[in-house]
Amino acid sequence: MNFEFHNPTHLIFGAGVLSRLGEVVGRHGKKALLVTGGGSVKRSGTFDRAVASLKAAGVAWVECDGVEPNPRISTVRRGAQIARDEHCDVIIALGGGSTMDASKVMAAAFYYDGDPWDMILHGQPTPHIPTRALPLITVPTLAATGSEMNMGAVISNEATKEKSFVQAKCLYPRVALVDPELTKSVPRDQTAYGVCDLITHVTEAYFNGVDDTPIQDRFAEGVILTAMEWGPKALADGNDLEARAQVQWASIVALNGWVNAGTNGGYPVHMIEHTLSAYHDITHAAGLAVVNPSWMRFAARHRPHKFVQFAERIFGLTAKDPADLECALEGIDRFESFLKEIGCPTRLAELQIDDGLLTRYAQDTLRVIHDANGNLPGRPAMTEADIVAVLK
Ligand code: NZQ
Ligand code: ZN
Repeated sequence: MNFEFHNPTHLIFGAGVLSRLGEVVGRHGKKALLVTGGGSVKRSGTFDRAVASLKAAGVAWVECDGVEPNPRISTVRRGAQIARDEHCDVIIALGGGSTMDASKVMAAAFYYDGDPWDMILHGQPTPHIPTRALPLITVPTLAATGSEMNMGAVISNEATKEKSFVQAKCLYPRVALVDPELTKSVPRDQTAYGVCDLITHVTEAYFNGVDDTPIQDRFAEGVILTAMEWGPKALADGNDLEARAQVQWASIVALNGWVNAGTNGGYPVHMIEHTLSAYHDITHAAGLAVVNPSWMRFAARHRPHKFVQFAERIFGLTAKDPADLECALEGIDRFESFLKEIGCPTRLAELQIDDGLLTRYAQDTLRVIHDANGNLPGRPAMTEADIVAVLK
């Protein structure tokens, strides 16, 4: 377990911190590109409050609105062009993971003369990994991806039906201004998907990571148990600020590098889901809810003891022995039941996806990322046939 950890994002967390936006942005620039999604921030009043804070601090701004869920490279190009034309020197991402991810790549594209799609890993021999980006301030309005405090961004190419990621140190936001009040307006389905997304971020590392990571295991289990306790409370009452805050904090630690430090595993469930999103434009974590339990059943047969640990520590089951597959599978069933209870789909048919293109999804996933043997990294590494079997 060898690793380095450095997360430079300054996190400001708490109800009401949105009012500090102008002061925070003013420390990093004079004119902001204010990036937003499809309009939820306008309907909730968040946009007006953000703008009032900028005005009070004397920060100028210009908007790039319309970032779509599964953000598109064409939107990234548009935003970067606005930032250049308007001589912006800082970017504010006000929205969900899609808005934050698009903003990150706009921030890097600002300094890059080529096409920003070069930065996204999609099977090209040498992706352009950015080393410079405009300062970015993230203001998440949805608890799910953890993008507000990490160096990743996931972008779709609508022309080629590809969806993939970039990771670069310069993409860490300078500040994450996290106000759980802003998530009160998130609808029920998106709230549930957020819970599923954050849990999947830690299960990927838990099950695919290296052996002997006892502290990370306990961190991951803490995140899962917290999400399973407070997620349903946020679903029962969307205005429950305490529940919203606990879920949001869980979503941040799930993918800010701390819980997964040193686990060094692949993210096969995410890689497969990204292909489904690229083809069908489905919500990311709705796809995860379908793929993850199925993947777990596949992987448990190769490495039962970790799934036994999950079953015992998360669901209080008792195994006959450390490799008790029956117990492992019972834990996975219970996890799938939890996803169903909170309203997530667990079958492709529920996403209106039939099995006509399963081989193509597998091939496309492997085209984006594969190991030296041509398989999808993870434990175990997956062949094309494995991916098809999991989807089936
Ligand atoms: O677009 P608007 O109008 O803002 O509406 C959004 C969108 O329709 C709405 N919403 C957001 N905040 C709201 C709200 N509605 C009411 N009240 C609010 N406060 O929710 C819908 C979904 O938004 P989106 O940003 O797409 O969701 P999410 O945060 O789940 O982000 C998903 C994207 O992030 C990527 C996914 O692949 C997907 O493209 N991921 C990014 C990661 C990262 N950067 O680290 C990791 C993840 O694993 C994930 O892959
Ligand atoms: Zn995710």
